[in-house]
Amino acid sequence: MKTDEICVVGVGYVGLIQAVGLASFGLKVTCVDLDPAKIDMLRRGVPPIFEAGLEEALRQAIDRGLIGFSTDIAEAAAAPLYFVAVGTPTSERTGNARLDYLEAAVSGIAAVAPPEAVITVKSTVPIGTCAALQARLDRDHPEKLLAIVSNPEFLREGTALHDFFNPERIVIGGASRPARERVRKSYAGFEERGVPVIESDTFTSETIKYAANAFLATKVTFINEISDLVETVGGDIDEVARGIGLDSRIGPQFLKAGPGYGGSCFPKDTLALATIGRRHGVQQQIVETVIRINDSRRFHILKRIEAAMGDKLSGKRVAVLGLAFKADTDDVRDSPAVEIVHALLEEGAAVRSYDPVAKLTVKHRGYRQCETIAAACEGASAVLVATEWGEFRTFDFTAVEEAVERRYIFDMRRIVDIKAPWARRWDIERIGSPLIR
Ligand code: UGA
Repeated sequence: MKTDEICVVGVGYVGLIQAVGLASFGLKVTCVDLDPAKIDMLRRGVPPIFEAGLEEALRQAIDRGLIGFSTDIAEAAAAPLYFVAVGTPTSERTGNARLDYLEAAVSGIAAVAPPEAVITVKSTVPIGTCAALQARLDRDHPEKLLAIVSNPEFLREGTALHDFFNPERIVIGGASRPARERVRKSYAGFEERGVPVIESDTFTSETIKYAANAFLATKVTFINEISDLVETVGGDIDEVARGIGLDSRIGPQFLKAGPGYGGSCFPKDTLALATIGRRHGVQQQIVETVIRINDSRRFHILKRIEAAMGDKLSGKRVAVLGLAFKADTDDVRDSPAVEIVHALLEEGAAVRSYDPVAKLTVKHRGYRQCETIAAACEGASAVLVATEWGEFRTFDFTAVEEAVERRYIFDMRRIVDIKAPWARRWDIERIGSPLIR
């Protein structure tokens, strides 16, 4: 490896986008991951995740000779700049983010890195982690003068490449100015385009990441609570959201009412922030309340479906359209749709699901994933729209009118075209609109 190269350790979601993104700037990137199956796929130009534009970008980087893959960190021994993007899953036992993968990755890098290398943490980590990692490096490898930099990631799944190329800010935290400078240089193109760069200590940059996700989760939870009110007192939640979102102090984004936030980030990061607050005796009461409200939301939705179905789900068949935690991704981690599938099965309903991309295996005789919307709707007493996939917006439910047991749709994403001619022949309930009964 040449000394002007970059090494990305951990090519999950964040790492892979980072690697492909940097390669597209003409930088030479070596990707290291312990999972041989993943590395093998990547070498063949096949991304292990579904993300718009990723496959082309990956293949281009391979063809230009700008990206390489390995399971062995020693192959990236001479890099002056490392990005670590390994997972920090929540510990079931403590609620803390688990740091064992990160610590192992940093130790592995430290053992092979050249003197004065910069190790940039992209993984979301509890506040204080980077300072602790720096202290450890100073203790274990004092002669190498290695520097830890915190550089949190703000990509959204589904639009990750677009987000990489259009950041709204870049946050770089670290004690060493030359180290921060080296990371800053790798993003020089963005800065030339006027993207703000925030340089800080690592405590600040780690807090920015958690506070950003917690604030967005709070915004979603806030509109969901107002949506519950609208369902009871009357009104239309989308108009309420528009009416408040046009106030630039509030802003229009993250005000779409739905089944509650899910995915691999918001649930994990809100929980981690609440845990950090408690550990330090500074309880994060807003975030704790947000978590509680979001967790109970699925129950609220189930009750509403039950009421619409005559209070008895047992023995009925329900079609669930959409499994991913949001559209344009195959990710089902902490997906509200998946939790609702499980809750329905527990209540004795049979579930047939459909998702254009995501797969869900459930070992329950009442569950089956279908290949088409029509197959999922066969014999259904209720059709739930759980993910905002484009094809559900335009689907003409006339096609399944004869197949369903009852023409009833519960739209958790408010995307079904209620003005379409077919909609007059169906009972359609939506989150954020008053009940039809
Ligand atoms: C989120 C953040 O938006 C990213 O900035 C961050 O980098 C990422 O977490 C992370 O920490 O890695 P992501 O989880 O991909 O990104 O998804 P979002 O688009 O933010 O959606 C999160 C959840 O909120 C989804 O369940 C979505 O359905 C829900 N949501 C979002 C709503 O219910 N309403 C909205 O108006 C917006």
